Amino acid sequence: MSQVNPSLKPDDQLGRPLRDLRISVMDRCNFRCPYCMPKSEFHENYRFLRSDERLSFTEIVRLARLFVDLGVVKIRLTGGEPLLRANLAELVGDLTTIEGAEDLALTTNGVLLARHAEELAANGLKRITVSLDTLDPAIFQQMNGGLGAVSAVLDGIKAAVDSGLWPIKINAVIQAGINDHTVLDLCEHFRGTGIIVRFIEYMDVGNRNAWSQKAVVTSLQLRDKIHARWPLRAVDENYLGEVARRYAFEDGAGEVGFISSISQPFCGACSRARLSSEGRLYTCLFATQGVDLRAAMRGGADDAVLRNLIASTWRARTDRYSEERSLPKSSKLSEYKVEMHHIGG
Ligand code: GTP
Ligand code: 5AD
Ligand code: SF4
Ligand code: SF4
Repeated sequence: MSQVNPSLKPDDQLGRPLRDLRISVMDRCNFRCPYCMPKSEFHENYRFLRSDERLSFTEIVRLARLFVDLGVVKIRLTGGEPLLRANLAELVGDLTTIEGAEDLALTTNGVLLARHAEELAANGLKRITVSLDTLDPAIFQQMNGGLGAVSAVLDGIKAAVDSGLWPIKINAVIQAGINDHTVLDLCEHFRGTGIIVRFIEYMDVGNRNAWSQKAVVTSLQLRDKIHARWPLRAVDENYLGEVARRYAFEDGAGEVGFISSISQPFCGACSRARLSSEGRLYTCLFATQGVDLRAAMRGGADDAVLRNLIASTWRARTDRYSEERSLPKSSKLSEYKVEMHHIGG
């Protein structure tokens, strides 16, 4: 690791350190989930990035090292759909060589996972998170734009288990009137397997999903529903600032989590930076602007300059969008926000 004075590790304006880096490796996706990339907007003629506009693996690894110098210990690869990026396992292998990057994970929709799980594990990926909103085949189709089958995702999860990727988490976005009546089936399917289902409140990310508060099912509502069937008890967080609130099944059949960005925002301990596939640094999931690290890098900036750019961006950070969202007349709500498929959630 390049030598950096530890005192240079930046805290933001609210005293939050930089600990996590979420790297979007691909802005495209093979799904069209209406809450993220609605078909009407992301159609055949939508202009995704050209491959030379995306950061190369060499560029990603270089930046990841600099982020680790500045305090990052946890790296997550996201998309769009990260498994659409050719030779992704090579990048995984490169990232595992970074001393100090203690945790490397991947979030995928799982459709291509059966094909890639083994090589990802062989190249050093430890754990994985798979998005799966429902087990109902017809609702699943509706929720991904008609582009993938539940069975393919379940095959992917099985391949991940067989390849030793562990722990495995499932992310389920719950929308009122769409899949909220299927949450118990999801719990039942994964109870006793060790796989952790996490329910995500539908969020107002991006500008294109026509979000409405009416479509949100709060974590408390879901927790009560699950608790009525299988009693739950709260358990401590795994690490400070964990996004999901954890609950164990009283009968010992494992745990579930709730990600409550709408009803119980968790900005206070947010230590996440996001790097988009074209190399912009965003300091919030709901950011309006990113800092162009690619331009600096391709313009010849050396490591020290890049590190300073990242550190000064983090030091200036004041983001706490989810907390501000609930304030009356928050001006932020009308601002243009980065799209989810650019920064991977
Ligand atoms: P673990 O390290 O396994 O705890 O994962 P994680 O929860 O940090 O990552 P994951 O990608 O599984 O995140 C789950 C979902 O939570 C994301 O896809 C987002 O929808 C949401 N999420 C994650 N980080 C943030 C955040 O900083 N702010 C908000 N509002 N939502 C977030
Ligand atoms: N609200 C909540 N979660 C979302 N995701 C994508 N769009 C939204 C949204 N509008 C989730 C995906 C995936 C993760 C990357 O982000 O389902 O699990
Ligand atoms: Fe759906 Fe994830 Fe693809 Fe967005 S990136 S369309 S949430 S699978
Ligand atoms: Fe972090 Fe922004 Fe999410 Fe708050 S809204 S937790 S600051 S990413």
